[in-house]
Amino acid sequence: MGVHADIKLVDHDDQGVDLAFRADVLNGLAQRQKAIPARWFYDMAGSELFERITALPEYYPTRTETALLAAHAAEVAALVGRGRAVVEFGSGSSVKTPLLLKEMDAAAYVPIDISGDFLRQSSVDLAAKFPDLAVIPIEADFMKPVPLPAATAGLDMLGFFPGSTIGNMVPHTAVDLLRSMRQTLGDRSHLLIGIDRAKDIGRLVAAYDDAQGITARFNLNLLERINRELGGDIPVDRFRHVARWNEDWSRIEMHLEAIEDVAFTISGRSMTMRRGETIHTENSHKYTPNQARLMLQAGGWTPRAQWSDEDENFLVVLAEATEYRSAP
Ligand code: AVI
Repeated sequence: MGVHADIKLVDHDDQGVDLAFRADVLNGLAQRQKAIPARWFYDMAGSELFERITALPEYYPTRTETALLAAHAAEVAALVGRGRAVVEFGSGSSVKTPLLLKEMDAAAYVPIDISGDFLRQSSVDLAAKFPDLAVIPIEADFMKPVPLPAATAGLDMLGFFPGSTIGNMVPHTAVDLLRSMRQTLGDRSHLLIGIDRAKDIGRLVAAYDDAQGITARFNLNLLERINRELGGDIPVDRFRHVARWNEDWSRIEMHLEAIEDVAFTISGRSMTMRRGETIHTENSHKYTPNQARLMLQAGGWTPRAQWSDEDENFLVVLAEATEYRSAP
């Protein structure tokens, strides 16, 4: 069946600048604690660096979740039923997605991602592995409800949200997203979601500040992307990568710290930063299984099954859209 023409729901100006990117950068750098949403990490270079992170010895989430999916995808298919449309929030990994699809006998596969280039590439790779599957990529921000393509009308949906990307949102945004996914996927849907577990802080910090410096490059690439796409002149070599644990929020935070006073322009706007000042670029929240289940319930999903590894590193939960009815 192959890859359908992709559906684009992203706004660019005449020069091809992503308007949402520019707005997030300019607004975020005008705040007292400068901050840029983590979703802007994933241009082509950032997505490639992230793929390298997933193979690092310190970064346990990907291989742990992959092993869980390999061991339990057949159980997921048995619980959910075959012949569903699988809607993946994110471009799809060449390793994890096939593990699920090969058990699901899916009627269609719809990856939704903001990074168009990476989305197209991973869709082509996936379609080559599953020649009978309709692959329908949608270039869109999945933080809002996404209209699904006509080809999936009438099909029951299985949402797939691996990688603990939910952890990159603060809890209230995570709940908003879960509710929005429920709206996108409909009443008879299921959601298979990966969530990273709370654990030893030393291991967590090492996972986000690896010895080879790949995570540092991933973080710093955001500044390079701003320079490339928004006509910036940020002196990238005057910044350093910082990963630290925030106990109050149970999360790893990534920041970009100015190592000296700096001045630069972005889209014609002048800015300064003092030595030691940071741009907060990512949160990665870590949940206990109870907290994870509560979050899913708050987002309109009822957990039905869950799987974790022996070392209690990572959790995969299968949830069902909660029926809306009057409740006490
Ligand atoms: C995509 N996301 C779940 C990753 C994480 O672990 O929070 C992104 C990442 N950032 C640094 N390393 C990996």
